[in-house]
Amino acid sequence: MAVRKLAPEEIQPDSFTFSSENMAFVAQQIAKYPPGRQASAVIPLLWRAQEQAGGWLPRKAIEKVAELLDMPHIRVMEVATFYTMFNLEPVGKYFIQFCGTTPCALRGAGDIKKVLERRVGEQNHVSADGNFSWLEVECLGACCNAPMVQINDDYYEDLTTENFEKLLDDLAAGRPVKKGSQVGRRSSEPQGDVKTLTDPHLYDGSQVGAWRKRFEEEAASTASAGEAAAATASAPSTPKPAKPEAGRAIESEAADTPAKRAKEGEAPISQTERKEASDGKRATAVEARTEDAAKPAPQSDKSYVATPSKPSGGAPTPDAPSTPVAGTPPSDTPQRRDGSESKPDVTLDKSNKPS
Ligand code: FES
Repeated sequence: MAVRKLAPEEIQPDSFTFSSENMAFVAQQIAKYPPGRQASAVIPLLWRAQEQAGGWLPRKAIEKVAELLDMPHIRVMEVATFYTMFNLEPVGKYFIQFCGTTPCALRGAGDIKKVLERRVGEQNHVSADGNFSWLEVECLGACCNAPMVQINDDYYEDLTTENFEKLLDDLAAGRPVKKGSQVGRRSSEPQGDVKTLTDPHLYDGSQVGAWRKRFEEEAASTASAGEAAAATASAPSTPKPAKPEAGRAIESEAADTPAKRAKEGEAPISQTERKEASDGKRATAVEARTEDAAKPAPQSDKSYVATPSKPSGGAPTPDAPSTPVAGTPPSDTPQRRDGSESKPDVTLDKSNKPS
């Protein structure tokens, strides 16, 4: 990359002022950011200053942007000299950015460069008629249509020495030119015959959703096969007959209705019987639930005492209570530490029978 430095003093303008239209743009850009953060608008302001100055940034334009954004001059100078999108010296009416990166180089960019050198001269140099200047840049992202150049804001692709010379002639003469591919290819589709995706059904809409339909059919067939297998595995050898009333509401007669009484020959309920039935005093008394009644009854008034760990590792000790003999009166049993009665002591004889 060439050294990026400001143009010589002798070609620097004495002043720079944004036009009223561009000042409105400047105010709009600054308003995008909160107070104290207006420096964030430095790149759009430099870009607009470059456009107004004819494609390059004079020193005075850089300083004007710094003043508008309340930034030190050197900070804006750093931005302007860092980004190659900012030209620091005058450019031609048609500023050509020539891509010399590998894909373009493999497709003949070297020949395009020779045309530029012959017709325009060295890069960063404006032609004698003021129409052209050029600069070699890195990949511009149109490698599919290499080799290519960018002229001002537009791409010109699929260049050959012949069509590029003609392009320069037309631009110099002010004739309309074709942007994009210079060999008539659309976008970045294959050059020459199309060899892939040639099925016309791909473009008539008949394939829309076909993939989904195929997946749905596969899923449905898998599910039905699984259900059939599950039904076969779970079906009993002699299936029970289905209950005819299964799933239906059970019809039952009301318990005690005038119609039922009349049907069964009983007398209807008299007014006296109704009154007695509704008498609260004759109703079954329900004890009111008191707070004490709501509490659970205490199990005992003794607190829990943890059993001490056995020093013998769980083996019975001589004085430890053992299994009581059936039929021993509870009153004869010793008291536990917690005060409750334990089961009676049992003494085993040598035959391991209770004595
Ligand atoms: S290499 Fe030239 S556009 Fe990518």
